[in-house]
Amino acid sequence: MTTRVLFDCDPGHDDAIAMLLAAGSPDLELVAVTTVAGNQTLEKVTRNARATAEIAGLAAVPIAAGAAGPLVGPQIVAEDIHGDTGMDGPVLPEPTYPLDPRHGAQVIIDEVMASEPGTLTLVATGALTNLALAVRLQPLIAARVREVIFMGGSVGLGNYSAAAEFNIAVDPEAAQIVVSAPWKTTMVGLNVTHQALATPAVRQRITGLGTAPARFVGELLEFFGQTYRDVQGFDDPPIHDAVAMALAADPLVCGVQPAPLSIELHGEHTRGMTVADLRGPAAPGCRRHVAMTLDAERLWDALVVALTRLG
Ligand code: BDR
Ligand code: CA
Repeated sequence: MTTRVLFDCDPGHDDAIAMLLAAGSPDLELVAVTTVAGNQTLEKVTRNARATAEIAGLAAVPIAAGAAGPLVGPQIVAEDIHGDTGMDGPVLPEPTYPLDPRHGAQVIIDEVMASEPGTLTLVATGALTNLALAVRLQPLIAARVREVIFMGGSVGLGNYSAAAEFNIAVDPEAAQIVVSAPWKTTMVGLNVTHQALATPAVRQRITGLGTAPARFVGELLEFFGQTYRDVQGFDDPPIHDAVAMALAADPLVCGVQPAPLSIELHGEHTRGMTVADLRGPAAPGCRRHVAMTLDAERLWDALVVALTRLG
């Protein structure tokens, strides 16, 4: 049984790798891609998503641009990590697949409403603006979605600030709407994604495949590895977004536990922090889940299988 996924993203090096994982995984069926401003402007991340779709051969998968900025406040971008284009490093192909004219939030609504209830998973790896808009525009989607899996937040330290992770910091109000809507949500935060490190051995395994998509991932990791070294002091880059996608394909990629979850919206030093209440067993029926552990080998195996299948 494959899991049907809609991918909402802001490519972004690790978003692009997550898209290739979705495109090639035998366990996933990618139904649509929607973009949101975050790592760079909406225009830039949408171009990157379309270029990645070309490399993945996603001719039949609609791609739509969504929100150009957060619900509240100014837009922030991550040029220091992802560069001026949002995906510096590889030379990108010119997009030839058409851009769907609908707003990304509308595509989310349309795909959820057209799917059998409980059969579509939303995987989000950027700010949660499109998901928040979609569930506000059409609240009926909440009961029909199988699950929302988002890369964002942290049980512990942030990266945008001491307390906040970047995707949540970009649009904290949207994140609060998403984690309080009546659907199942699973947070894949920095506490696990910082263990998804593309070590030299992992990179060799990928580039050793020798295919065009694998070479593309190698080039992405070259640039991303350098900025993570320079800006964040990491020896190897964490492939955050691929963890959320891998978890959609295989529930054993992460150890997950239920926990009430909210977003700090007001703190002077903590705005955008994810607050997971891990003090005790969650009440029965708790629909918020938090990833706590990562099986990194399972993640890399899934990525290698997907890249091999893309050929
Ligand atoms: C997240 O922020 C973005 O820069 C990455 O693409 C990832 O989604 C990590 O904090
Ligand atoms: Ca991202």
